[in-house]
Amino acid sequence: MTATSETTTPELSYPQFDKHFTEFVGVAADGHLWVEGRDCVELAQTFGTPLYVLSESQLRHNLRRFRAAFEARYPAVEVLFANKSNNGLAVRHVVNQEGVGGDCFGVNELYLALIAGTDPGTLVLNGSNKSDEELEMAVQNGVCINLDALDELDRVNATATRLGRDAEIGIRVKLELKALEERFGAAAHGEGSLAEQGRNHKWGMPFDQTVEMVKRAGQDMPNLKLKEISYHLGRASNVPDDFAHMVRELIGWCARLRDETGWTPPHVDIGGGWAWGRPEKTGPGGEDGAETPSYEDFAAAACGAIVDECKKLDLAPPGLRIEPGRAISASIGITLGRVGAVKEWPDYGKTWVNVDCSTNHLIRIPMAHWYHHIVAANKAAEPATKAATTVVGPLCALDHLGDDRSLPAFERRDLIALLDTGSYGESTAANYNAQQRPATVMVSGDAADVTTVRENRANVVGRYQVPPRLLAGSFAGG
Ligand SMILES: Cc1ncc(COP(=O)(O)O)c(C=O)c1O
Repeated sequence: MTATSETTTPELSYPQFDKHFTEFVGVAADGHLWVEGRDCVELAQTFGTPLYVLSESQLRHNLRRFRAAFEARYPAVEVLFANKSNNGLAVRHVVNQEGVGGDCFGVNELYLALIAGTDPGTLVLNGSNKSDEELEMAVQNGVCINLDALDELDRVNATATRLGRDAEIGIRVKLELKALEERFGAAAHGEGSLAEQGRNHKWGMPFDQTVEMVKRAGQDMPNLKLKEISYHLGRASNVPDDFAHMVRELIGWCARLRDETGWTPPHVDIGGGWAWGRPEKTGPGGEDGAETPSYEDFAAAACGAIVDECKKLDLAPPGLRIEPGRAISASIGITLGRVGAVKEWPDYGKTWVNVDCSTNHLIRIPMAHWYHHIVAANKAAEPATKAATTVVGPLCALDHLGDDRSLPAFERRDLIALLDTGSYGESTAANYNAQQRPATVMVSGDAADVTTVRENRANVVGRYQVPPRLLAGSFAGG
């Protein structure tokens, strides 16, 4: 089934919990953490730990609300889910059914989206160093390619000509973000102000090179159809005004391109990085708390900025494309871990609770200081008795999943859950210490299905090979 607006989608049935963490994750009367109609204690018993658990209904809910927030404020909106935030095929099927397109990064994300049956016309391909195979897959399937290097124009043109096909192209641009010179946030793209981060990262084409590409595409390359310019600010900021400044500059580029080349971008793609917060905190350094602006606040700021700037510059409002990742997928997932050794050092008030999930499975924690609220899943209604519990994984690294948390006392076989791990958890998981990556289960109402199979030992050790000369050195004639 492809992503079309005619696709019928299920009505969502909203559970009632004693305490809600999201619409579909909460603490039930039995004091356990539940995802939709399934008790996490039972899920851990049935499917094992560590375990990623996704709520299908939360995904549908988030997609619907995000899209509605922008559609209520702008006439032509296409939401492209950032597949990198959760690449699961089952996730992509749900996103397709909800009529939402996708942003793919790299040949394998593109392949996954295509084999999930996504309408290629609703996809965009990003990437700073695209392979020949990737360009061919995109052109062959009619996927819009966001160019990110001068020679990519010629490479796409050669591919399209060889295949006898038209290719839709966009240009990923490098805004200067002068209005954000003094704005600071998370180090999403390195250190410095939002403007400095934007200048330092590898993505995007400066204005003069964008002009050159547009002119060349228009003059000599009839197979290429220019569709959009795009910019991704990233989750350095959770302030709608910062996004509005970015959008204003992007619209400014549309007018400058019109004046210099005669081409006015029919679409602008304003990327991802849209924050989502919760009272218990989430995000980089735990910055995304109760005050974090909502989807609607971001939509009002971005759409208002486009309309306003277009009026000023005498431009027809372009089609708006937007690539949310974490704003959609973070809250759809939790990660369950089984408690093992509990260790105390009373002299220093320290408690370490060892669990079987690790920062291998949630790499954003050490990489981007990501904060995930931790819940005692089998006794979620119990009051905290320990004010400084550090939850640690089994890796030969610090492997701190959460520092100094207020939690109940734990003992071996208890169960913990890290919230909001639906984005960039599974998709960035690693095998350090020859660990196996977890399974993923998708819950919908009372149903729970494995959507990613747990790795076994053979998956991990089976990739290693020993050259014959080393075998000889170790064993031959020994
Ligand atoms: C081009 C592009 N679009 C969208 C996203 C999604 O970002 P987020 O998950 O912060 O919304 C990313 C993330 O890296 C990206 O690089």
